[in-house]
Amino acid sequence: MADAPSQAVPLRAALLAQAGGVATVLVLAFALAQATQLAFWQVPLVAALMQGVAAALIALWQRAPRWWLLIHIGFIPLAVIVHGLDIAPGWFLAAFVLTLLIFWRTDQSRVPLYLSNRRTANALAALLPATPITLIDLGCGMGGLLKHLAKARPDCRFVGIEHAPLPCLIAQLRTRGIANVTVRRGDFWPEPLGGYDFVYAFLSPAPMPRLWRKACAEMAPGAILVSNSFAVPEIVPGTEIEVADRRTTRLYLYRPTVGFAQPDLAGDSAAFPAIPHPPDRQ
Ligand SMILES: C[S@@+](CC[C@H](N)C(=O)[O-])C[C@H]1O[C@@H](n2cnc3c(N)ncnc32)[C@H](O)[C@@H]1O
Repeated sequence: MADAPSQAVPLRAALLAQAGGVATVLVLAFALAQATQLAFWQVPLVAALMQGVAAALIALWQRAPRWWLLIHIGFIPLAVIVHGLDIAPGWFLAAFVLTLLIFWRTDQSRVPLYLSNRRTANALAALLPATPITLIDLGCGMGGLLKHLAKARPDCRFVGIEHAPLPCLIAQLRTRGIANVTVRRGDFWPEPLGGYDFVYAFLSPAPMPRLWRKACAEMAPGAILVSNSFAVPEIVPGTEIEVADRRTTRLYLYRPTVGFAQPDLAGDSAAFPAIPHPPDRQ
């Protein structure tokens, strides 16, 4: 399950590609200046486009996902264009700070902010047993899912952990006064999972192998890991639920076992008592 080098540290790979693009343009400029009178670097946008194409080719060689190529082609050319717009530097700082407050260290976590929708929250609520349970939302974003669940099930306890400052603040404000919800700011990785009956995660493919190891090591026997949209690689889920929303969200349900589970254990439906399918198909 090891990542290819370019995927393991995408930001570092991207910086290398950009730096490679700059180096290529410098070498080309020097070579052309020696051989001809061409001075393309005097037209900054042309030089920037050449840099972008070179960076994209390097990213292709790194086997970066295709959408990175567009970013590489456009990054410096856009910077050149925006530079010409004469925008006060304070706006760039403000945009940077706002992006940081919302997305925080997405470069490290590789989990951006996108939110579970109402139908997914209904599907999850329908999965909860009639008896009181505790559920944690790992990376709870703006707390919408927790708020919905807490209102639907006042007898249950809901916890959210979010490291991005602005979404966390919004989640805390939204759930203020709801007695059965706690939202904390912080990193969910050190949070022990042993006290939760349900662990909900809507993350990205990148942290799933690590989350699976953590779940297997810490979750109590019988507790359920629900992953929205991202399956654990090489582990067959006990149950899959398709939510009838526009993006046909899939919920993958696992009962992690103690220790590192083998692929066939998690898919053992005999060890995975029936979990009710959500009735909501609105
Ligand atoms: C895709 S959003 C899901 C939000 C929410 N759970 C929902 O379903 O609506 C993932 C969230 O996890 C947060 N996150 C990622 N890694 C985290 C970490 N290690 N600790 C705390 N929050 C994290 C991100 O900041 C982001 O807000």
